[in-house]
Amino acid sequence: MDTQTIYIVGYMAAGKSQVAQGIAEQLGYTFWDTDLYLENRFRLRVSDMFEKFGESYFREKESMALDELLGSYQAVIATGGGLPIYGDNLEKMLQSGKVIYLKYSLQDLIERAELCKRTRPRIAHLSGADLSAKVQEDLHLRAPFYEKAHLTIECSLEGITLTTPQIIQEIIQKID
Ligand code: S3P
Repeated sequence: MDTQTIYIVGYMAAGKSQVAQGIAEQLGYTFWDTDLYLENRFRLRVSDMFEKFGESYFREKESMALDELLGSYQAVIATGGGLPIYGDNLEKMLQSGKVIYLKYSLQDLIERAELCKRTRPRIAHLSGADLSAKVQEDLHLRAPFYEKAHLTIECSLEGITLTTPQIIQEIIQKID
């Protein structure tokens, strides 16, 4: 296992944190999550950061969090769904470690977003057709960035969604 820093990317509610945590446990690596890192550093929830200071403030701090964690020794880093889209964040990750994309079907993402939206300020106020349209629009913009990952895990395959332990196992098998 040569890779010292593993970055998990993908859309909101893709289970990136649980997967990153599971991989870190199996490899004996340190687990990081950029959202949790920010919340601890600023003693403010992500949703409050959005509400009080706006999204661009959050994006600035999010990129700063990545810079502080970049290339961490033997670490698995779960990244916020929007992080790879801004500035040169994706390029920095690609150059300093292995980037893994958790890819789901649009339908799976819409269902997961509905279940987890409460703590996600960009979608918390949306439901039904509006939520579906937002996820679709986001994915259209973001997929080209996510797709640049070194490794893509197909989490929704022919109507079956992989479980978190299955995703972790697949990553452990495929990573070198
Ligand atoms: C965001 C995703 C969230 C969090 C913030 C914005 C996004 O992280 O960073 O609410 O723009 O996709 P998760 O991907 O962990 O939900």
